[in-house]
Amino acid sequence: MRIDILTVLPELLESPLNHSIIKRAKDKGVAEVHIHNIRDYSTDKHRRVDDYAFSGDAGMVMTIDPIFRAIEKLKSERDYDAIIYTSPDGERYDQTKANGLSLMKNIIILCGHYKGIDHRIREHLITMEISIGDYVLTGGELAAAIIVDSVVRLIPGAMSDETSALTDSFQDGLLAPPVYTRPAEYNGWKVPEVLLSGNPKLIDKWKEEQSIERTRRLRPDLLDE
Ligand code: ADE
Repeated sequence: MRIDILTVLPELLESPLNHSIIKRAKDKGVAEVHIHNIRDYSTDKHRRVDDYAFSGDAGMVMTIDPIFRAIEKLKSERDYDAIIYTSPDGERYDQTKANGLSLMKNIIILCGHYKGIDHRIREHLITMEISIGDYVLTGGELAAAIIVDSVVRLIPGAMSDETSALTDSFQDGLLAPPVYTRPAEYNGWKVPEVLLSGNPKLIDKWKEEQSIERTRRLRPDLLDE
């Protein structure tokens, strides 16, 4: 999978996208992540990429031209399955969307900034708008990093234990059961007896019960769905 990210703050993305699973996926060649500075596509002598809002509102708006040129250049090189814009007024992101994106071959993620982007970009170039939650970030970079992380870990070969993404919370619509490791007792705090039984059937049954109980208690909305 190839992910191209368009941003005015490439520095913000360097660290989150160069560690752990994303780094492993890149090293193994199962994912490529390319970060592009939108300013490189500005024809302005000061590399400006924003301008005042026609509505007279405070705050700057990202202009069409550099973004259009960046997207057109990428599209001339390969086909894209989705051109995503990160914005608090996008569709709410969840595991189902992450699963869907992980099946795609090439995607572009455009990070919003300032007061937003000229709406014509959204109308004519963007194919999917994603919000990572009902709160406002300073820019779309952290949202893009979250999307990339959640998608890349689903690509076969990205994780060392390939089955483990399947047992994540939300993957079957339920929260994951609790996990424990050694020692079996610490400070008098004991690991549930069943996990020490060595009986896979009993352990699976316990895990399922725990998942359902935790979902009912902590996220009953998931059961309604
Ligand atoms: N940019 C600013 N806030 C955001 C959010 N909640 N989701 C995605 N992009 C954003």
